[in-house]
Amino acid sequence: IKFWAIVPAAGVGKRMQADRPKQYLELAGKTVIEHTLLRLLQADVFAAIAVVVSEEDPYWPDLAVSQHQKIITAPGGKERADSVLSGLKTIREQASDDDWVLVHDAARPCITAADIHYLIDSLVDDDVGGILALASPDTLKQVEGKCITGTLDRSHIWRALTPQMFRYGMLKTALEQAQGNPAITDDASALELQGLQPKIVEGRPDNIKITRPEDLALAQFYMEQQ
Ligand code: CTP
Ligand code: MG
Repeated sequence: IKFWAIVPAAGVGKRMQADRPKQYLELAGKTVIEHTLLRLLQADVFAAIAVVVSEEDPYWPDLAVSQHQKIITAPGGKERADSVLSGLKTIREQASDDDWVLVHDAARPCITAADIHYLIDSLVDDDVGGILALASPDTLKQVEGKCITGTLDRSHIWRALTPQMFRYGMLKTALEQAQGNPAITDDASALELQGLQPKIVEGRPDNIKITRPEDLALAQFYMEQQ
């Protein structure tokens, strides 16, 4: 059984409103994606890491890490799920259906090798797999328009992070069958549509996704703390 990583990095970063996709913005002396890949490489468990980038991306080939022997470049897709599927297809000759795949957003540079090992150790004996997730510190409200119609029971609500860890064959089938479905915003949701029940593994609050401009300073702060 091997472990593979897929890193979707073909987004445009609309909410970041920067002059380039957020994965290429600078954070503590390196680009965001270099931090992310360095940490995946530090985990020292992956047979290879498939990085999925847009075909018009001028930044990726300029990074030294794009030539790293463990890194494979794959062409991006329209939605995140299409990009992940593209990453899976580039390793199809080498991967077997039972191998584990960890999908990790390029935009989450604060992931730690320890968290990757914790996820793997927690799920390696599972049939389906699962995801890093966090409880919500805030009370969560159900809303129609601007009116609160209810309060959710927080013991049943978790925020989905990455990495998300699934068997190669199951993930590929689930993503293929979910193609074009806008409800698929992470990998677990594709498996849920198959009637499967991925597990949650408690992650760390510093594993943020860089989404809006203020997140860069926050990520820098967390990296200094780590
Ligand atoms: N992603 C991808 N292919 C897409 C869309 C997103 O590989 N077609 C990747 C992004 O590069 C990112 C991760 O999926 O690493 C999570 O997506 P998100 O945070 O939404 O990034 P963007 O789509 O780039 O940002 P935005 O939604 O603000 O445009
Ligand atoms: Mg997006």
